[in-house]
Amino acid sequence: LDAGEFQRRLLDWFDRDGRHDLPWQRERTPYRVWVSEIMLQQTQVTTVIPYFERFMAHFPTLAELAAASQDEVLHLWTGLGYYARGRNLHKAARRVMEEHGGELPVNSLEALAGLPGIGRSTAGAIIAQSTGRRAVILDGNVKRSLSRLHAVEGWPGRPVVERRLWALAEHYTPEHRVADYTQAIMDLGATLCRRGTPECGRCPFADACVAHARGEQRRFPESKPR
Ligand code: ADE
Repeated sequence: LDAGEFQRRLLDWFDRDGRHDLPWQRERTPYRVWVSEIMLQQTQVTTVIPYFERFMAHFPTLAELAAASQDEVLHLWTGLGYYARGRNLHKAARRVMEEHGGELPVNSLEALAGLPGIGRSTAGAIIAQSTGRRAVILDGNVKRSLSRLHAVEGWPGRPVVERRLWALAEHYTPEHRVADYTQAIMDLGATLCRRGTPECGRCPFADACVAHARGEQRRFPESKPR
């Protein structure tokens, strides 16, 4: 499956079956996309939606978030869990006010990934979705899909395995429609190529997936050796 064919199949599936009406897709500013990506790091889309709406109602801009107290921010986070995410979000907002003139540095992957709570994949997701510029992502969902498609052996926490997965993610990322592509590949992992029981019958890549051909979907990605 060459990269162009991968992109076509993924985007066709997304156009038909993907999610197009999420609140952070409506007004794709760097600030809104950032908050959504942090909330989505460990929490499902359906849970995040009301928290996201409430958060935006309280803090419509990054400046207002930065001006709030940490307690106010954590209060809005109550129920979402993983409170370090809320603390880092607040810390990052203050740093953006002090060091980046109040604008998220979406022109620099390095600057963005240097902010608290933003790793390389989240930085890529923010850039792709808010600017449409080509940026590569590799979150847990994408790691699972790519490791199945190519039957990538080894635990993804091992640097050699992680490098291979980043190379595959890089290979498949298109120049055009990058925002949609990014949402699509995350949706594929979240909705079809799930951890427990993937829905290979509806997957646009079933005929190309090495794990599927071997009936070994459940074996990928490999878990941490013990
Ligand atoms: N996980 C992280 N970001 C996501 C997104 N934008 N959509 C679905 N799942 C995600």
